[in-house]
Amino acid sequence: MSKLMFVFGTRPEFIKLYPVIMEARRRSHDVVVVNTGQHREMLDQLLDEMGMAADFNLKIMTQQQTLADILARTLSPLDQVVAQVKPDHLFVHGDTSTTLAGSLIALYRQVPLSHVEAGLRTFNKYSPYPEEMNRQLTGVLTDYHFTPTEVTRGNLEREGKDPSRIFVVGNSAIDMLRYTVRDDYTHPVLDEVGDRKLVLITVHRRENISELGQMFSAINDVAERYAETHRLVYPIHMNPVVRRAADEYLTSSNIRVIEPLGTTDFHNILSRSHLVMTDSGGIQEEAPSLGKPVLVLRDTTERPEGVAAGTLRLVGTGREDIVREAARLLDDPEEYQRMATIANPYGDGTTSQQIMDVMDKVIADAG
Ligand code: UD1
Ligand code: UDP
Repeated sequence: MSKLMFVFGTRPEFIKLYPVIMEARRRSHDVVVVNTGQHREMLDQLLDEMGMAADFNLKIMTQQQTLADILARTLSPLDQVVAQVKPDHLFVHGDTSTTLAGSLIALYRQVPLSHVEAGLRTFNKYSPYPEEMNRQLTGVLTDYHFTPTEVTRGNLEREGKDPSRIFVVGNSAIDMLRYTVRDDYTHPVLDEVGDRKLVLITVHRRENISELGQMFSAINDVAERYAETHRLVYPIHMNPVVRRAADEYLTSSNIRVIEPLGTTDFHNILSRSHLVMTDSGGIQEEAPSLGKPVLVLRDTTERPEGVAAGTLRLVGTGREDIVREAARLLDDPEEYQRMATIANPYGDGTTSQQIMDVMDKVIADAG
């Protein structure tokens, strides 16, 4: 038995670490869960839903926090927790500011670091921002890289990471879908959509904040043009800047803006949607596995597997580009069918078991 610390602070980190934490517990490890509290409501909601309580909550979130705020407010409290708990291993996920803070503290306290969802790259410093550099910096500090695919393994190898410390394990987002998606699911939003086709929207990225006007105008155009046949549903992010822009630009009555959904709700509504328009990272992994075409409202993606599989299309943030690509799919059933193939580039839902198999061996070898 070993003391394993899991550090997360935002919605996607929790969603993808939850199955790993459960697997570690199943194997009777001494698991310590640390929530930096970079997100508040959006994360508390998910912890409650999954019945998980963090052992430590650093509660660092402030309204409209800057990148420096998050890091500065996390480092010392997290350092104290790690000094007190003395974990044998520390796990971080992905590419948020919490990820970077966790990686730095693992270095400062000389705790071996495991990075889940390692190796995703655009090689563009400012897109996504600051995630690309968060994950590159974390990669430099990582001892065990748990990477989703052969493509992402290649990224790590080209950077000179030790191949014997890179493990291709799929993405634990798929493990999570196995916890959440159900055939008998119902929700009032689905009742309201009725016979129309559901277009699911999410938008939150920092590098897109200055583009929100044109992105929301495009979404508004799509809502108006397809009002008789489609219904747009947008579980909005808590970021007040995003909310203000949505208030200003999303004027169509054919867009239903709702509060952030729990993961079970989001995954089930995603699985019943017709089309997704998003700048999210994680949704680009979930949608191919559910056969849902995604228009990626970004200039870059670190998920080329979904583009290759045909489910993702990178459309950028321009108003005309977004409307044109949406129309292409909504007007042309053959084009739609081509994209709506079920492809799962991210493994078979056993990522957490594979990660813990590696960990158990690492622990056994360390004696
Ligand atoms: C963060 C991550 C991003 C990830 C995203 C997932 C960084 C720098 N960014 O971006 O990589 O894709 O989470 O959603 O780590 N807020 C609330 N309540 C909440 C959450 C956020 O009020 O529960 C508001 C606060 O005003 C906060 C702001 O949203 O200051 C932005 O939150 P922040 O975590 O800084 O950025 P995200 O855009 O959520
Ligand atoms: N998600 C959720 N509720 C929502 C919107 C998204 O649970 O209302 C989930 C979604 O299924 C995915 C994750 O949150 O697993 C993606 O989070 P987000 O888009 O905030 O971050 P990113 O993946 O871009 O880092």
